[in-house]
Amino acid sequence: MDPLISLPLFFFFILISVLLIARAPFGDAWGKEGHIMVCKIAQPYLTETTSKAVLDLLPEVAAGELSAMCPWADEVRFHYRWASPLHYVNTPGVCNYKYSRDCHNSKEEKGMCVVGAINNYTDQLRRRGDSSNHYNLTESLMFLAHFVGDVHQPLHAGFAADEGGNTIVVHWYRRKTNLHHVWDTSMIETAMKDYYDNDLDAMVDGIMSNITGGWEDEVDSWENCQNKQATCANDYAVESIHLDCNYAYKDVEQDSTLGDEYFFTRLPIVKKRIAQAGLRLATILNDIFDHENRQEIQSY
Ligand code: ADE
Ligand code: ZN
Ligand code: ZN
Repeated sequence: MDPLISLPLFFFFILISVLLIARAPFGDAWGKEGHIMVCKIAQPYLTETTSKAVLDLLPEVAAGELSAMCPWADEVRFHYRWASPLHYVNTPGVCNYKYSRDCHNSKEEKGMCVVGAINNYTDQLRRRGDSSNHYNLTESLMFLAHFVGDVHQPLHAGFAADEGGNTIVVHWYRRKTNLHHVWDTSMIETAMKDYYDNDLDAMVDGIMSNITGGWEDEVDSWENCQNKQATCANDYAVESIHLDCNYAYKDVEQDSTLGDEYFFTRLPIVKKRIAQAGLRLATILNDIFDHENRQEIQSY
């Protein structure tokens, strides 16, 4: 090849590679799989009226599947820069969360965090009939379904200093990554590979059978909360920061190698958080779209 052409091409290739590598470990939510699972779990718990209303709002590309749109908010994250802080909330290094102290963006605008976002998009969808409501409700629904997933990923309510584990470099078995990515993606991927033949639907079925099996005594309590605003999202963030201190950050430091011991003790938390997010998303959507027929989720 002509060296005058190949040299710029070579540098272009290096630049693209560096950009891709630099971005790779910083996936910013439950990975795609986690969000799809949350919404697949929610789907069967929607009432008929809710399902119809959701279907009406979904874009055509969703082909009638809410779960197809649940990773959307991450895909547009660099286009909707203002929405970036809405994917998480951080505390000043303490194992408790307070809305008034913690729910803001870097410009200190109140409510600009995942908890504020869930309540805000719920309100927008509730007021769908108001003539003064000019919001794009398709986007409101897609944001809501995504953020209910995010707030259940424990490290989406983490410590500000380490950006919810993003700056804690660890080895997941032999692969270098960061603690946040382990919780967003690696544990789900390893579980899918080791136990479910890389079949996402099989993992969803496994989690669903725990809802009616192992967790049936707890499921009713997942719907209630201490301080309800538009939703119980505040309490979900409180649960997440407690899980961080007891599980996610526990026994982890810079350069830790995380393997079987970490995986076996933390995977049950990942599965339960996905189940809780799915059921709670269904409850929120039923409350919005089918308030009259609102029914408690039964663990029959
Ligand atoms: N960026 C900064 N903090 C974050 C967190 N807790 N989760 C995801 N992205 C973040
Ligand atoms: Zn994340
Ligand atoms: Zn997200």
